[in-house]
Amino acid sequence: MTPTYTQSDSKVEVSGAEARHYDLLMNLITAGTYPFFIRRAVKEMRIRPADEILVFGSGTGRNLSLMDKYLAGEGRILGLDIGPEMLEQSQRRFAHHPYITIENQRIDETLPYQEEFDKVFISFVLHGFIQQNRLKIIANAQRALRPGGEFIILDYDEFDLASSPWPVRFAFNLECPLATDFVGRDLQAVLREQGFDEFRAHPHYFGYVRLLAARKEVVR
Ligand SMILES: C[S@@+](CC[C@H](N)C(=O)[O-])C[C@H]1O[C@@H](n2cnc3c(N)ncnc32)[C@H](O)[C@@H]1O
Repeated sequence: MTPTYTQSDSKVEVSGAEARHYDLLMNLITAGTYPFFIRRAVKEMRIRPADEILVFGSGTGRNLSLMDKYLAGEGRILGLDIGPEMLEQSQRRFAHHPYITIENQRIDETLPYQEEFDKVFISFVLHGFIQQNRLKIIANAQRALRPGGEFIILDYDEFDLASSPWPVRFAFNLECPLATDFVGRDLQAVLREQGFDEFRAHPHYFGYVRLLAARKEVVR
């Protein structure tokens, strides 16, 4: 029987020591591979110097610093998060930055942005919501993007968890329970229904993680 999840099953609202040491924890959990992985993933975003980028669940701001290298003094990045420790770290990191700002804003409520961004990026956040809230987040991204802009999702890929090797099943026992629901969903089909029409997928970590870029339809 398929279990029914509620948002209270989620572990995506990281707080306390886990949030304060989040970047270090990621490096340790991935046996030191995270810096190489995330640099490659940001490269796959195909950022152009004048891009305007909206980041959902911007965390400590680590990924935004890597994106900044491609902007080279143009464009802008707006990060949204709600975790107090995450906001404290990222707002301190970009306190004097001319075009990176971080705001305390929920991403699972209707956002005010309309066709203002070239890219919306979300990494290891979408899996942590019930499907109904994932749809709200996708709708926010769709509205915020200019036609032809890309919604870029870095998260777990789709796979059959039950038939996966034991280390994967063991890791998912420790992960947010909603991640188990997420890997069983056809994300591209959901995105297509919400106005995205072209996809590029980049696998990572033996295909268990993927960067999926979905293009917002250009209506002619
Ligand atoms: C697993 S962390 C990932 C952080 C970052 N994206 C990264 O890859 O390093 C999840 C992030 O989502 C944020 N978050 C959780 N629920 C949120 C919500 N409803 N609105 C905005 N941010 C949220 C958390 O505070 C945390 O920073």
